[in-house]
Amino acid sequence: MSRSAYWRDHVGKPFEVRFPLPALARRGAFAANEARSVESGLQILDLIEHERSCTGARILDFGCGVKIVQALIQRDAPQAFYLGIDVAPQVIETLKHELHDNPKFEFQLANYRNEMYRPNGEPMSCENGFGPTQRDFDILTMFSVVTHLDPDDSYQALKGCRYHSAEDGRAIFTAFIDPELENDFVDVVPDRPLLIAAYRKEYLTEIINAAGWEIIAHRAPIHALTQDWFVCRPV
Ligand SMILES: C[S@@+](CC[C@H](N)C(=O)[O-])C[C@H]1O[C@@H](n2cnc3c(N)ncnc32)[C@H](O)[C@@H]1O
Repeated sequence: MSRSAYWRDHVGKPFEVRFPLPALARRGAFAANEARSVESGLQILDLIEHERSCTGARILDFGCGVKIVQALIQRDAPQAFYLGIDVAPQVIETLKHELHDNPKFEFQLANYRNEMYRPNGEPMSCENGFGPTQRDFDILTMFSVVTHLDPDDSYQALKGCRYHSAEDGRAIFTAFIDPELENDFVDVVPDRPLLIAAYRKEYLTEIINAAGWEIIAHRAPIHALTQDWFVCRPV
């Protein structure tokens, strides 16, 4: 699919946000402009759909924020089930409150430490998943999440996703890949820990493989939408 095809559907067409949320709960570059933020969520859904249909799928969204939830609702929630996990209480509390009566959505607050988002949390340990319920998910997404995780936590997050993957599940996630990088990993902005967590591709590949995944596609960044993004299957 050409890069421009991702944009054609949405850009320039105004639309009404069907599931508006308070600004405090929103994340990412378009947090101040809700329609633009939801539009980018719709574009991400298109990327996912290109790999695996969301219709009838069980979706695990790790580091969920609110954007994909808003995009799914914009499209009448075609999934069988969606579980969003995040370390941000205002995100999870808002979503739980707003969607408590919708059986297609469930949300879980994690207490993992992240220098940028939750410095006082506990070290990530996800060998046995993210919580008591093991479900087989068809699609496991982490958009703009590994971009803020150090190597140990990227491994833990990928391992946790692997634990919850269906036999033929797909992990779809973004990461900062720097081909010029001499080191395996660099936390690019020292004053803003994990704002940009950059990996050498070979090193991230080792982490992905160690967590039980095989890369089946590595796609280039899309301007104003994603960093490098990966599609993986379980091994
Ligand atoms: C840049 S936002 C992306 C949100 C969403 N995936 C999107 O595409 O809009 C990164 C999200 O990851 C969450 N996060 C950061 N570290 C995490 C961790 N260790 N476990 C779970 N969520 C985490 C943050 O709270 C934040 O909501």
